Amino acid sequence: MNRLECIKSMVLKCKVAADIGTDHGYVAEMLLRDNVCDKIIATDLNEGPLNRAIEHLSAVNLEKRCDFRLGSGLTVLKEDEAETIIIAGMGGELIADILEDSKNIALKASQLILQPMTTADRLRRYLYNNGFSIIDERIVKELHHYYFIIMAVPGIDKVDDEIYYEVSKMLLKKNDPLMIEYLNRLLGINEKIINSIEKNNNNGYNKKIEQLSNKNKKIEELMKN
Ligand SMILES: C[S@@+](CC[C@H](N)C(=O)[O-])C[C@H]1O[C@@H](n2cnc3c(N)ncnc32)[C@H](O)[C@@H]1O
Repeated sequence: MNRLECIKSMVLKCKVAADIGTDHGYVAEMLLRDNVCDKIIATDLNEGPLNRAIEHLSAVNLEKRCDFRLGSGLTVLKEDEAETIIIAGMGGELIADILEDSKNIALKASQLILQPMTTADRLRRYLYNNGFSIIDERIVKELHHYYFIIMAVPGIDKVDDEIYYEVSKMLLKKNDPLMIEYLNRLLGINEKIINSIEKNNNNGYNKKIEQLSNKNKKIEELMKN
């Protein structure tokens, strides 16, 4: 399953979903074609991408089921307008900022589907500390890249160790083989950094070595359990 198919597979059947940062409009297209949603509010911050979405969804005759809106994040939505909010293909920090800027709207959604391209740890940290609960998460790999797709809902959910911001608790629980592959790669990357600092006798980075070694120990423990 690729990234976009995985996003689609996590959206629950609903009347209205908002696809924030729609760009080409492929997510909207997939959801409408499979009748996962009756209608999509397709939004983008920039005119070029929004026009691309309008063109594409018109070409596939789905534009009548779309409401196209230009603007930043959730500011273009009213409270309760979209049951599902999808924010995919942006950095984890940007997704967190978008949720924080319109928290009243985000907290009214029944389901948030979030797919960070980078810094998934920052996004998980934000969700856990700001009234959202992560109820599902999937991992997909495309061209050597691992992508995390997070399903969050309003609710209180805390983790007892910061490692769970970086290593998804949900994916650990599932024992997903791709997650094991991802963690082995993460261990290898950290090990390489440690070796390279040690090789260069760079004493100024002793704290970094300690941090990475501790992180790897924790990851190995989590993998054993
Ligand atoms: C890489 S594309 C992702 C397209 C699609 N969502 C996907 O996952 O394939 C990111 C899109 O987000 C838009 N974008 C960036 N910041 C945004 C914001 N604050 N609000 C809405 N859209 C934004 C960009 O203009 C761009 O079209």
